[in-house]
Amino acid sequence: MYPIHLGIVGAGTVGGGLLQALARNGSLMASRLGVEFIVTRVAVRDPKKARSIPVPTDRITNDWRAVVKDPAVQVVVELIGGTTTARDVVLAALRLGKPVVTANKALLSAHGPELFAAAASHGTNLYYEASVAGGIPIIKILRESLAGNQILSMHGIVNGTCNYILTRMKLDGAEFADVLADAQRLGYAEAEPSLDIDGHDAAHKTGILASLAHGSWVKPEQIHTEGIRHLSKLDIGFASQLGYTIKLLGVVKLLDPVGKARPARVVGRKGRSQSDGRRAAVQVSVYPALVPDSHVLASVNFAYNAISVHGDIVGETLYYGRGAGQDPTASSVLSDLADVALDLKHGSTQRVPPFVPHASQCPVVPLAEVVSRYYLRLSVADRPGVLAKIASVLGKARIGISSVIQPEGHEGEIVPLILMIHDATNAAMQKALQRIARLSVVKAPPVMIRVEAFS
Ligand code: NAP
Ligand code: HSE
Repeated sequence: MYPIHLGIVGAGTVGGGLLQALARNGSLMASRLGVEFIVTRVAVRDPKKARSIPVPTDRITNDWRAVVKDPAVQVVVELIGGTTTARDVVLAALRLGKPVVTANKALLSAHGPELFAAAASHGTNLYYEASVAGGIPIIKILRESLAGNQILSMHGIVNGTCNYILTRMKLDGAEFADVLADAQRLGYAEAEPSLDIDGHDAAHKTGILASLAHGSWVKPEQIHTEGIRHLSKLDIGFASQLGYTIKLLGVVKLLDPVGKARPARVVGRKGRSQSDGRRAAVQVSVYPALVPDSHVLASVNFAYNAISVHGDIVGETLYYGRGAGQDPTASSVLSDLADVALDLKHGSTQRVPPFVPHASQCPVVPLAEVVSRYYLRLSVADRPGVLAKIASVLGKARIGISSVIQPEGHEGEIVPLILMIHDATNAAMQKALQRIARLSVVKAPPVMIRVEAFS
């Protein structure tokens, strides 16, 4: 049995889950892998805090440096979160040539290339399966299982907290603030929950997936990001009546030069079209979207995540599982530990490097240039001629209306008007919305939600 000594920095939701999982399945892993994981040191903020898996006092400390530097520690597991101390922890370990396992998507998103370079130059590796979609092994799938595919599109529900909130709002009619408190209590939310509800956590994850698929590291500022804070039960209800479910989606899509999804057969190396030589680009964005109820992502509920990945050779594939919380995330950390163990055992430190810039390298296109469909809810004066005024603004912008619904049961001087809008660029739609908002018959800021076509 090959012993592997772990230094774990952070024993909160995920770190605590890891300690429990090792206690439960450590010997199973030993029998499968021929290695024994030994928790040698643990760093936390407050060593006196009561923990579900108590750590012996001689192994627990509030000094992460002591853990990283301890000559007995072979592998460092960073589970504290954030981008400051966590970066110091990871860099310090890599510079000592120690492999690092992390679940920290915010850190990877902001500092990925620096950390990957440190791992390479110090002859070690960085493992991050738990950073995206909890227990779903999506990093391994993109880096290894689908390595032979050009990735045409990915649509992901990658934030468990938002999916939990949207599901409870739809199924129970619950209020946003109450459900957020439940998501925090269940250990799904980040320490700073605005990272979840304002879409940043989903953007960190979507950026990691886009980078792996398209070969250059996507920075958070390149990702158009919208959260779910502004969504109302009203829109969730109208969407449902129309046959849609609202989900926070991470979207990564190869586009042709006019902003439309690119067909598989025309995308070649370095993102160049094989037929016309023009450069493809990639959409990387996070926004709430109407998902048709007939699409499988519409029925992914609560803290479950799912990612549909369309490869040019494999076609459509789907990955589903628990996306947040203690146990599923611990499962992905264990998966990384299994890789570390085999790499250490066989002396193959960069067998699968953390990130390899590669051939397709498409630029990220601004969302303004991307063509979408839209759901539009307007609060309008209840009098004749209103629709004509709105249709005229859209007509002048060459934006087509596919349907109009004036839901029954809304009486008074101001009533809702729902329009479903055909393909238009986001720039054209924004411009038209500004004009619509200025019409005297429109009594509140328009609500626009994209409709995902999954083309
Ligand atoms: P958490 O519950 O807040 O736990 C953080 C842990 O880090 C605590 O044990 C804390 O100590 C310790 N800590 C904080 N600052 C420290 C410092 N300076 N030195 C030593 N220890 C320190 O966070 P979490 O939910 O486990 O998340 C950890 C990481 O996993 C984050 O990067 C998060 O994004 C990621 N992640 C979380 C989930 C999830 O579902 N929660 C899923 C996937 C990925 P005390 O216990 O003494 O306070
Ligand atoms: N806060 C994150 C979520 C944890 O809700 O998805 C899992 O990464």
